Amino acid sequence: MKPKVRKAVIPAAGLGTRLLPVTKTIPKELLLVVDRPATQYVVEEAVAAGIEEIIFVISRNKESIGDYFTPNRDLDEWLAAQGKGSLVTPLNQLLARIRTTCVYQDQPRGLGHAVLCAQEAVGEEPCIVILPDDLGEADPPLAVQMMRVYEQTGTGVVALERIPRNEIHRYGVIAGHERQPRTYEITDMVEKPPPGTEPSDLAIIGRYILPPEIFPILHHVQPGAGGEIQLTDGLRQLRQQHGLYGYEFTGRRHDVGTTLGFLETTLRLGLHNPTTRDRMRVLLRELRDEIDNNQK
Ligand code: G1P
Repeated sequence: MKPKVRKAVIPAAGLGTRLLPVTKTIPKELLLVVDRPATQYVVEEAVAAGIEEIIFVISRNKESIGDYFTPNRDLDEWLAAQGKGSLVTPLNQLLARIRTTCVYQDQPRGLGHAVLCAQEAVGEEPCIVILPDDLGEADPPLAVQMMRVYEQTGTGVVALERIPRNEIHRYGVIAGHERQPRTYEITDMVEKPPPGTEPSDLAIIGRYILPPEIFPILHHVQPGAGGEIQLTDGLRQLRQQHGLYGYEFTGRRHDVGTTLGFLETTLRLGLHNPTTRDRMRVLLRELRDEIDNNQK
């Protein structure tokens, strides 16, 4: 029997430089996307996939992430007394289903190092690493799709997406054989390949189901692309020792790691969110007319 994946690791210690200046004081993970912080979407996804514990990897000045995902009894009581308890009900229902823990990454030494910081909290069991810059919009949710592949293969699984060749140098990229529709046995991978050297157009996206064997490997990974300890370099060794699969998920991914990505994600999710959908449709039509009129 494959051990159940009960824990999710969410690396959130980054400086958020691409979203400065707001990230000087507000973690990008808490920036509003339609009606909730960006990272709440991935926590909801983890819960949908049966995750029981979320381990946030944060830095000392990002403790507000841990605070947000911890119930606040005083606030709840105050809101209830005002007859406004329903404002926090969905969040509290989510939090009632999970345990959250924070561990610290004191220096930004790369994604591989961030994951390594969660070693003790994860222990000797598999986990799913979820990058909060990558919001999924998929049915079933991305993490649920990944769990299904893990159930079949019993090995590590990474999410894959086809990316245009002119953008793929920003990602980890795999080489592999398609063993079942959308499921690839990975034969190699490289982090941020120089343009023209990428082994395929299949990029690794921010979901990784990993066995605990990844941790001793990460201890020995040397700085790679960008001078950082890269998770992809650890995965390469993991693959050699234990095998690794990739799954080309169905659905959409939204990147909230950049200003334009945030804007696009807000528009798209706003258009699909039941509470904002109708007004957004009207607004976007008005804007389209405005653009058309300006072009005349
Ligand atoms: C990280 C990973 C990379 C992956 C990407 C997905 O890169 O290192 O392999 O393709 O996330 O979003 P980053 O975006 O942190 O540079």
